[in-house]
Amino acid sequence: HNPAQLAQRLLAHYDRHGRDLPWRGERSLYRIWLSEIMLQQTTVAAVIPYYTAFLQHFPDVESLAAAQQEDVLRLWQGLGYYARARNLHRAAQQVAGQYGGCFPESPEMLEALPGVGRSTAAAILAIGRDHHLAILDGNVKRVLTRLTACAEPPDKPGAKRALWTLAQQLTCPQRPGDYAQAIMDLGATLCSRSKPQCPLCPWAAWCRAHQAGEPTRYPVKAPK
Ligand code: ADE
Repeated sequence: HNPAQLAQRLLAHYDRHGRDLPWRGERSLYRIWLSEIMLQQTTVAAVIPYYTAFLQHFPDVESLAAAQQEDVLRLWQGLGYYARARNLHRAAQQVAGQYGGCFPESPEMLEALPGVGRSTAAAILAIGRDHHLAILDGNVKRVLTRLTACAEPPDKPGAKRALWTLAQQLTCPQRPGDYAQAIMDLGATLCSRSKPQCPLCPWAAWCRAHQAGEPTRYPVKAPK
């Protein structure tokens, strides 16, 4: 495969069909961070009303840092995975206390915040600052394991390293933020877990799992 060609195809598809999400084109790292934490393990459709309500109550990181934990949890009620809300609150207190209310703009410093892993830190800076950083969340793992027909579970160390390398190679240096949104969107829509829509996929011609006629075999599960 040719990484530039793949990125170009994906971006052309995104320009035509990409969803117009509330955090698209957003510059505030607070808002992007909030959206990315909510989108861990939760669909866009479920997140949007929570995202809107949350920002009405807590328009900036200082107001979130100053909130009572029970108020934060109440606004999270129904979204699930409540450890995310507690981490969110603690992270806001760190940003307010240690960084004067400004989110740090390095991946390493963002990753030091509770609830922010490598992929989330990369998503925040790619979307918010157009930094050339690779994403590898659950949706992207599914896309890339299908693209390569990866025979190993994606969280095995060797496979994981190879997937991060591939994710980095494919990232478009000219439009890293759009590329990040586009590949996460592809995983959330056409390249879904159980009903992939390969005939509509901009990467179908390069996708080994599609060529083999068995996209849902990937990602391979780890043995129990
Ligand atoms: N999943 C995680 N982050 C996302 C984003 N920014 N857009 C679409 N799906 C996502």
